[in-house]
Amino acid sequence: MRVHVADHPLITHKLTVLRDKNTTSPSFRALTEELVTLLAYEATREVRVEPVEIETPVTKTVGIALSDPKPLIVPILRAGLGMLEGMVKLLPSAEVGFLGMVRDEETLQPTTYAERLPDDLAGRQCYVIDPMLATGGSLIAAIDFLLQRGADEVIAVCLLGAPEGLEAVKAATAGKNVTVVLGAVDEKLNEHGYIVPGLGDAGDRLYGLV
Ligand code: PRP
Ligand code: URA
Repeated sequence: MRVHVADHPLITHKLTVLRDKNTTSPSFRALTEELVTLLAYEATREVRVEPVEIETPVTKTVGIALSDPKPLIVPILRAGLGMLEGMVKLLPSAEVGFLGMVRDEETLQPTTYAERLPDDLAGRQCYVIDPMLATGGSLIAAIDFLLQRGADEVIAVCLLGAPEGLEAVKAATAGKNVTVVLGAVDEKLNEHGYIVPGLGDAGDRLYGLV
């Protein structure tokens, strides 16, 4: 597994505002979208392309276009939905599949409650989006699911990660074609499985308490 942690003052600045407990839901949503666009720039560095011939007003030339099959973006509901618009802006021709997962707040184990994905993902590059990588349980389950359906490669884009979760994902995906791109890796997980300093519950901050 490859890991890329963004090192850019604009990303750190936007994350700082996102972390602030006084940041309101509308600002939190707007910042999430801006952050994913910045992270997607790095996450799509190896997106598959092929040569394409075009004519400029001056001459013929060869450029590149995204290859088929097009990339698949997979937001993990709920919180991953907050990252979807930002990702689609950068990859407008991508397709979108959905995975609904929720973590049991006691056991910290994830359960999958919804799935709307193509049956066959052979040859696909899949971009999983979820703001939080805490214990890593949800991301490991999502990656397993996509690889079992035949995905060629999984690239996860997360705003924040905990070192414990990142190690767990590394161990679970050893030797597999997986990359994780993060805005920051925080200090640790607390006794409730929350990222410290983190930003709290991303789903609740985006969409309200459930
Ligand atoms: C959050 C988050 C991740 C998961 C991370 O979702 O968006 O999916 O927790 O935790 P883990 O790394 O320990 O698995 P949550 O289960 O709170 O659901 P929600 O998005 O519907 O709020
Ligand atoms: N899920 C969140 O939304 N936040 C955390 O800190 C951990 C899991």
